[in-house]
Amino acid sequence: MRRVKKMSSSSIITAVFLLCCLANGSTGSQDDCVYAATGSSLTVPLRYELKESDNLKWFKDASAIFNRRRKQVIMGKNDAVDSTGSLKLTQLTKDKSGRYRPEVINEDGMNVGGDLQSVRLCVLDRVQKPTVTTKTCTDNGHVNFTCSVGQNENITWLMDGEMLEEKGKTLTRVAKDVLNANFSCNVSNPVSSEISLPVQQNCYKPMQKPHVTVNCTGESEVTFTCSVSQKYNNLEFKWFNEENKLQGSGETLTRKTDDVVNTRFFCNVSNSISSEISDPAAQKCSKPSFPNELFGISIWVFIGGGAGLLILVIVTATVCCVRARRKRRI
Ligand SMILES: *[C@@H]1O[C@H](CO)[C@@H](O)[C@H](O)[C@H]1NC(C)=O
Ligand SMILES: *[C@@H]1O[C@H](CO)[C@@H](O)[C@H](O)[C@H]1NC(C)=O
Ligand SMILES: *[C@@H]1O[C@H](CO)[C@@H](O)[C@H](O)[C@H]1NC(C)=O
Ligand SMILES: *[C@@H]1O[C@H](CO)[C@@H](O)[C@H](O)[C@H]1NC(C)=O
Ligand SMILES: *[C@@H]1O[C@H](CO)[C@@H](O)[C@H](O)[C@H]1NC(C)=O
Ligand SMILES: *[C@@H]1O[C@H](CO)[C@@H](O)[C@H](O)[C@H]1NC(C)=O
Repeated sequence: MRRVKKMSSSSIITAVFLLCCLANGSTGSQDDCVYAATGSSLTVPLRYELKESDNLKWFKDASAIFNRRRKQVIMGKNDAVDSTGSLKLTQLTKDKSGRYRPEVINEDGMNVGGDLQSVRLCVLDRVQKPTVTTKTCTDNGHVNFTCSVGQNENITWLMDGEMLEEKGKTLTRVAKDVLNANFSCNVSNPVSSEISLPVQQNCYKPMQKPHVTVNCTGESEVTFTCSVSQKYNNLEFKWFNEENKLQGSGETLTRKTDDVVNTRFFCNVSNSISSEISDPAAQKCSKPSFPNELFGISIWVFIGGGAGLLILVIVTATVCCVRARRKRRI
């Protein structure tokens, strides 16, 4: 026997209950509630065929809320009951929760209704649309999704539209396994349900292009740092020279300045879902002391050429002087 009736949520619909399945309504447990949403309407049926001469009373818990002697309404509003004597409840608020019970007395003062069925009404607010927040990864690569949820609300989780086993407020997953999956929670109470917007794990984001900063450390060392603009988890760094030869791993690369005077390095930073490489960068700690090239021609060509020219001039001058002296002597 089922005693819980779930009300659908449309606020204008007036619900009439079939009470055949509700046995005697005298037990007070939460479970025999007939649920209705705040703002909706419902009619509590009178399961008795009224005669014109009958007196009708409706009670909410211990107090009478409606009393009609024959056709004259003594307590309550005329339109509070319909033509069959059923009680019409509109614009429900939580304080209208309670047990509603009818009583029918005939003109001789006899209770002719007998033990008429009462209804325990429980008015609940509709649930709010939930949101899912994502906590960044734990160290062991798990991601927690947390659903905002009120008290006494039932949660289910959806991954890409499929319902999951878990029912709790927090859902934990290995982030790597759900890189692009959409998670939402479905929050419900007996009168309504709402689904959150989907979210994805945020432990692993697509990488953005890193850049290399150069730091002259100490007298003769240079440190290259691979910088990323956002915060990422579980990054892997690799360093390459311009010949694409692997030079090292880790966020920084330290070298003796003299060894890398003209070497340009770039870094490759990757996480589980993407990777990016930086532009190459060279150290600026020690400028080469002497330019190596001029107009693309090795400096030694110029030095050699200059020296050769000087020697030629000296030799020519010497030769000329010697000749001139000889001429004068002659
Ligand atoms: C993630 O959820 C698990 C299980 O609910 C919990 O034990 C853990 O503390 C949570 N971690 C974080 C970082 O919130
Ligand atoms: C939540 O709803 C499901 C499906 O209606 C039901 O099986 C489950 O028992 C409910 N859980 C709670 C805690 O109310
Ligand atoms: C997750 O949601 C986004 C946008 O809401 C959609 O583009 C994407 O296809 C969804 N992914 C899956 C696996 O359903
Ligand atoms: C959300 O939960 C309610 C109550 O359990 C259920 O009726 C509804 O079908 C669920 N919605 C989805 C999309 O799973
Ligand atoms: C360069 O290195 C020194 C010592 O390691 C450090 O204090 C400084 O912040 C670094 N500068 C940059 C720009 O990284
Ligand atoms: C960077 O490293 C990742 C991970 O090892 C690799 O998959 C990717 O191809 C590399 N990217 C480039 C541009 O070399």
